[in-house]
Amino acid sequence: MSTVEIIRKKRDGKTLETNEIRELIQGYTSGRIPDYQMSAWAMAVFYQGMTEKETADLTMAMVESGDQVDLSAIQGIKVDKHSTGGVGDTTTLVLAPLVAAAGVPVAKLSGRGLGHTGGTIDKLESIRGFSTELATSEFVELVNRNKVAVMGQTANLTPADKKLYALRDVTATVDSIPLIASSIMSKKIAAGADAIVLDVKTGEGAFMKDEADAVRLAQAMVAIGKHVGRKTIAVVSDMSQPLGYAVGNAVEVKEAIDTLKGNGPADLTELCLVLGTQMLVLSGEYPDSKAARQTLEELIRSGKALAKLKEFIVGQHGDPVQIDQPETLPQPGKIIPLEAEQDGIVQTIHAEEVGLCAMKLGAGRATKEDQIDHAVGILLHKKVGDSVQKGEPLASLYVNRTEALEEVKQRMRQAIPIGTTPVSAPKLIRSIVT
Ligand code: URA
Ligand code: CA
Repeated sequence: MSTVEIIRKKRDGKTLETNEIRELIQGYTSGRIPDYQMSAWAMAVFYQGMTEKETADLTMAMVESGDQVDLSAIQGIKVDKHSTGGVGDTTTLVLAPLVAAAGVPVAKLSGRGLGHTGGTIDKLESIRGFSTELATSEFVELVNRNKVAVMGQTANLTPADKKLYALRDVTATVDSIPLIASSIMSKKIAAGADAIVLDVKTGEGAFMKDEADAVRLAQAMVAIGKHVGRKTIAVVSDMSQPLGYAVGNAVEVKEAIDTLKGNGPADLTELCLVLGTQMLVLSGEYPDSKAARQTLEELIRSGKALAKLKEFIVGQHGDPVQIDQPETLPQPGKIIPLEAEQDGIVQTIHAEEVGLCAMKLGAGRATKEDQIDHAVGILLHKKVGDSVQKGEPLASLYVNRTEALEEVKQRMRQAIPIGTTPVSAPKLIRSIVT
């Protein structure tokens, strides 16, 4: 079928065949199909949607457009966790060693941060010597030995997705559930996951601000998993305020260490236990979620989860002394308290704005070329619903440069409005989609 016929078929609300979708993706990746035809097709999908089968076919066509990581040399079921992106999302730093300590292999390809959300690799690079530049053979060897490794993405994974995402970005076709779902799932499958636990964030700091949309996205991704034989579970979780208290790099490493010691923030701890439980269940090594959760709690209590973090750090040439002495992690020149200007109750904490402020201080990148300052960031002292008194610190700003400081102070104050109306903390776990 010609490209124009494929576009017309979708435009008219008909269902595309597997080979038609494959032809389209192959043609686009190779450059034979031009951007204008692909953008017309994306717009047709935006309006007409896709069936579960079409979405699964699109996912696999994108997986097949590039390299696929072969993790078959790793023993056991490789369960990957993916978050749709949030502010202060420290879960991977906690989950990787925690799940590994439970005997389930964690072979994670990770990225760097861009915009208001941070990247796991940037956070890990706060640790002296830590390297994610591993050869695949070294990566596999580490996972077999320690059950955990994190590698930077070097292979040419899902080039079709890269090209299509860039096109969608400039043609107002990003926010289509089947296109987002296939984009995310193609990357996880190409990275070698046997099973996938998705953390779909919802709320103001999330990509999916509306909860009903987040649930629809979760359902679409779980359906893809079913169609392509990768067990997939999605947890829909709150991202209306930052997760935990720390937003940045070294500050989030410290928060992860605290969490693995059992002294972490309540929301971060709970989310890690919920996601970790799902990962253990999908691995097939645990009979049910009750047994899985008990195991994770015990690994934290006994110190085994923390010991696993050290093993993981040492395996990738990092300095384990910094885990025992987090005060030796990069420290900022100044820590500036942001004081409450009145008594009251924290009404909300605008997550996206906090993420952008941390970026302004140097903790994140506005463009891919920006350098990260691992020492800077934001440490909140309050969460939504907490009472505060005038003069009490709402947050501490970890700073090294003073250019944007006044602006950040101003924006942070507005990001944490204080009022007299009692508010309850937002519900952390909204739903689990299976
Ligand atoms: N994130 C992705 O990876 N893909 C999308 O399409 C949207 C968000
Ligand atoms: Ca955090």
